[in-house]
Amino acid sequence: MSELSVKHLLGIKYLNEKDIQLIFETADHFKEVINRSIKKVPSLRDITIANIFFEDSTRTKLSFELAEKRLSADVINFSAGQSSVKKGETLIDTVNNILSMKVDMVVMRHPNPGAGIFLSKHVNASIVNAGDGAHEHPTQALLDSFSIREKLGDVAAKKVVIVGDILHSRVALSNIFALQLQGAEVKVCGPRTLIPKHIDSLGVEVETNLRKALNWCDVANMLRIQNERLDISYFPTTREYTQQFGVNKALLDSLDKEIVIMHPGPINRGVEITSDVADSKQSIILDQVENGVAIRMAVIYLLASKIK
Ligand code: CP
Repeated sequence: MSELSVKHLLGIKYLNEKDIQLIFETADHFKEVINRSIKKVPSLRDITIANIFFEDSTRTKLSFELAEKRLSADVINFSAGQSSVKKGETLIDTVNNILSMKVDMVVMRHPNPGAGIFLSKHVNASIVNAGDGAHEHPTQALLDSFSIREKLGDVAAKKVVIVGDILHSRVALSNIFALQLQGAEVKVCGPRTLIPKHIDSLGVEVETNLRKALNWCDVANMLRIQNERLDISYFPTTREYTQQFGVNKALLDSLDKEIVIMHPGPINRGVEITSDVADSKQSIILDQVENGVAIRMAVIYLLASKIK
């Protein structure tokens, strides 16, 4: 039986192309399962998973919890804001206390880049990165590519532009790694101030003209401005950002071809995309959310098979 090359999912950077194909084939099976009337399989009845979130989340937190429950794992949830972290307990102490309750796997969202990597070196459990600061968000990139594959048949040779706040985006970095591993072409588009200086070293071209970028691509992945990570002003006003880098229906309809619109959520409606674009037939935003459950089931199932 095929297995992943890694025992943790810390970032797409640590995966190879075969890992991604294995995750997708496993997710195909679980997508079929979650569309049955009985949406559950008994695969992980002997596994206990802790979801530990040090940052807010709607999609990722609920999607992981649902994925774990669909696999019949036992699940505990931890939110830092209501925990003894507020009394000064360290990350390692917190996780080791949770693990001493016979927990096998930890899914962690943390504001600090590299927090999952750090944890994986200090505790004895399989770690899944559910987003670490501006570093990586691997399951988001996997569900994004899976959704492109579902919509367009394949990811290889597809042209994908990632638009917006690339500098502060873990979604952008994980998507760049995942798309390139699968043979897609990737460009980024946004204000120069929100494009990392090292972007060329990732083999990614920059296009600052949104219309040109959209006319080039098959898929536009629209990112949110990460206001919670902006220490200074990176553009004059939100209105000016939207005028230059927001997609509205008139712009979408005036393009040379019909492109696919994606967004990882949460959407700032009227800023990076208007509601009529977010809710249009070209948008696969809610398909991304649906696919997140199947992808997370696949990741957890494959990692759990390495600890049994
Ligand atoms: N896409 C995403 O990570 O959304 P949440 O922050 O709501 O989990």
